[in-house]
Amino acid sequence: MAPTAPAPTPTPPTPDLTPLRDQALAELTAARARTAELTDAVTDAELTAQHSPLMSPLVWDLAHIGNQEELWLLRRVGGREPIRPEIDPLYDAFAHPRADRPNLPLLGPADARSYAAEVRGRVFDLLERTPLDGGAGTGLLADGFAFGMIAQHEQQHDETMLITHQLRKGPAVLTAPDPASEAPYEPPPVPEVLVPSGPFSMGTSATAEPWSLDNERPAHRRQTGAFHIDTVPVTNAAFQAFIEDGGYGEPRWWAPEGWEQIRRNDIGAPLFWHQEAGQWLRRRFGVTEPVPPDEPVLHVSWYEADAWARWAGRRLPTEAEWEKAARYDPVSGRSTRYPWGDSPPTPEHANLGQRHLRPAPVGSYPAGSSPLGVRQLIGDVWEWTSSDFLPYPGFRAFPYREYSEVFFGSAHKVLRGGSFAVAPVACRGTFRNWDLPVRRQIFSGFRTARDV
Ligand code: AVJ
Ligand code: FE
Repeated sequence: MAPTAPAPTPTPPTPDLTPLRDQALAELTAARARTAELTDAVTDAELTAQHSPLMSPLVWDLAHIGNQEELWLLRRVGGREPIRPEIDPLYDAFAHPRADRPNLPLLGPADARSYAAEVRGRVFDLLERTPLDGGAGTGLLADGFAFGMIAQHEQQHDETMLITHQLRKGPAVLTAPDPASEAPYEPPPVPEVLVPSGPFSMGTSATAEPWSLDNERPAHRRQTGAFHIDTVPVTNAAFQAFIEDGGYGEPRWWAPEGWEQIRRNDIGAPLFWHQEAGQWLRRRFGVTEPVPPDEPVLHVSWYEADAWARWAGRRLPTEAEWEKAARYDPVSGRSTRYPWGDSPPTPEHANLGQRHLRPAPVGSYPAGSSPLGVRQLIGDVWEWTSSDFLPYPGFRAFPYREYSEVFFGSAHKVLRGGSFAVAPVACRGTFRNWDLPVRRQIFSGFRTARDV
């Protein structure tokens, strides 16, 4: 018998990396467009001013965005020499607290803009030459991770800068159409949804979600009991009922540190609210307007959310309960990337990306519903959970400890779901945000749960 020719060694298919490169390019470009809108909207004097001791001057965020991009993409990925090494310490978020940043010798508006633009130009060049790793690796370039991380970082600072805009005094400089006139709407069929007991898959992986950040990983099995959760976030009208019932004067609703905080600071309503002739008004990006009853309540601390829930005979959901309500599909037993499935958000699904400068009324975005029927989990308002910010079992800091690891512990509470100010690239069913329980300048609201 004639010997058969050896089978040719199969060459692994070369993945087409053009879509990945295009996606990185598009996300970086979208982030910069938003950064430009937020920073071009004010004068140079307002860019360098500190509008609140809680926030950096906007010009700090701008150069910090460029500096992080230079550090991670040009230096780490590209192996390039620093452009301006002397400025690194100025833009290290751990070197100087926000309140001190106006006193630093920061780059002025023109220099900050040209620095960020120079970095970006070189990054586009790098992106074109760098062979992105089509998912085979686990490093910085796997599926273009570093580029995705930097696009998310810029968008996170765009939300931070929008908070600074909200704290800024003076007439409006930002405008956007109201969601009430555009958002699809369908009244929620029931006030709360039953989530069954049992395990579900919490968190994600580089395979399932290549641009997920370290604190979202790894995916792991989590058990919850059965519970009911609000179909939609708690509204301004519902929150007002708590105020009118004397909720801010009744210590039994409040965690002790929360009670101390509201007494010390004389807090009696969500931040930016005030009463005139018996009517509640709020200031929103330089405009004073009646508090809209049907919108999710905004600018409440964890303590205010926790107190409201106790007053209502309910409680905040745990982080695991929130994620199960958002992602668990009882038919397949799988966890989806978003409440509505695995496809990226569109304007039919959620109020994201600063398209609107306020949450949409509750009942909006029926297409964004989770498999169990929970609504408006993504977008509108960040939702406080009862949980401390802790690592998942098997957590590994990647690519740097200062993104998540140094914040783990009982000081910070987890927020989920993203607000109207969050970009789609920085929002998904597994995304975790965290803050101190006293914070209320953030775009925070909540929904509640109860045991079965
Ligand atoms: C995840 C929103 C808490 O703003 O402090 C920005 C994001 N980390 N630059 C923050 C972040 C580094 C972070 N949060
Ligand atoms: Fe940052």
